[in-house]
Amino acid sequence: FHRPPPMHSIRNPCCVALVALICLPATSAYLSAGSLFAGLPTNTARSCQSNVLSNLNMAEDPLLLRAARGETVERSPVWMMRQAGRHMQVYRDLVKKYPTFRERSEIPEVSTEISLQPWRSYGVDGCILFSDILTPLPGMGVEFDIEEKAGPKLKPMRTMESLEHMYVNSDWTKATPFVKQTLGDLRKTVGNSATVLGFVGLPYTLATYLVEGGTSKEYLEIKKMMYTQPQILHKMLETLAENIGNYANFQIDSGAQVIQIFDSWAGSLAPDDYDIFAAPYQRIVIDAIKKKHPETPVIMYIAKSGHLLERMAKSGVDIVSLDWTVTIDEARARMGTKVGLQGNLDPAVLYAPHHIIKERTEAILKMAGNRHHVMNLGHGIEATTPEANAKHFVDTVQAYRHA
Ligand code: CP3
Repeated sequence: FHRPPPMHSIRNPCCVALVALICLPATSAYLSAGSLFAGLPTNTARSCQSNVLSNLNMAEDPLLLRAARGETVERSPVWMMRQAGRHMQVYRDLVKKYPTFRERSEIPEVSTEISLQPWRSYGVDGCILFSDILTPLPGMGVEFDIEEKAGPKLKPMRTMESLEHMYVNSDWTKATPFVKQTLGDLRKTVGNSATVLGFVGLPYTLATYLVEGGTSKEYLEIKKMMYTQPQILHKMLETLAENIGNYANFQIDSGAQVIQIFDSWAGSLAPDDYDIFAAPYQRIVIDAIKKKHPETPVIMYIAKSGHLLERMAKSGVDIVSLDWTVTIDEARARMGTKVGLQGNLDPAVLYAPHHIIKERTEAILKMAGNRHHVMNLGHGIEATTPEANAKHFVDTVQAYRHA
């Protein structure tokens, strides 16, 4: 089955008894968690029910994982970048109760609940950890905050001395125990009905936040550093790379079945600078993952990456996640067929009438064929996307069969 069926569809009394048996402890655990979690729309019964059902289907790995490995699959799997979050009413309701991003992503019961929201509503084939690329920073000595309107906020690091409090962490279970618990709980809940994805930010993109102190349009501070004090930037990137490699492996050890690595802002670099400040540090992270977990598929995403396709294909990842500036055919012609593809519907298409969403989605599926492809958007879903349109996108992919 591909999505959790409604509770009333369970008719078999034996199954009901099983559900009751498994749900009871889970429900009482939630209740005993006390007022902090009171009112969480956990929909525990449904999760438990799908747990039971998916356990009956343990023989085969979940669809997205098999597709990510390059196996021939019965249909294309689908998920959406930034699928858990602001575009969903259930998420906005939870924000009222847990107003800061740090608590929503660092209280495991809450981050688990948010991670599950798009899986429950749309039946997506991938369930991504609700977290942020900045989440591991305190575990390496860098504090951050996320303001609801302005986004990430950090104390800018622009001198060698400012790097002194950064360190390489070797115990991520201690630094980010909530990530371990959330990934484990997600695996237990979704079973084989979806693939659990972990993710990390890559060194260059993380460094843009450390140097700029937050979101940036032109990345001028980090570029100034690149041209005037490259040794500071290299030192920062080196520490980030070592930490992120370990942190990605920790996520896999905790239950992540696929890892998506985001170098979202590396597309703003000239190719020569990309080769010096982005690619070598991506490589450190990818090599660390491949050394410890050669079987775990790695997907790399960069925004505005049309000019970087050949470089991304050579990075050592299993799948390149495309933005919408190239077609699947163009990407394959330039990258060869050894690397798989993810994407690449323009998230703005999700504002179109349903028949256009279907047409554009099916055009991509047809071009991709049944060959090493995971359907997704070309970047994160926009906050004002109507939920019915997101659902129509997912439904379209799941109904499509390759000739
Ligand atoms: O969008 C990307 O390019 C993906 C990589 C990335 C993430 N966070 C992953 C993420 C980047 C570049 C960030 C930085 C960041 N963190 C931003 C972008 C700001 C900028 O510079 O333009 C923001 C707004 C945050 C804070 C943040 N992260 C919020 C408020 C939320 C939840 C709400 C929402 O709808 O965005 C996140 C969640 C988040 N960041 C996820 C991921 C993969 C959630 C998991 C998912 O469902 O995909």
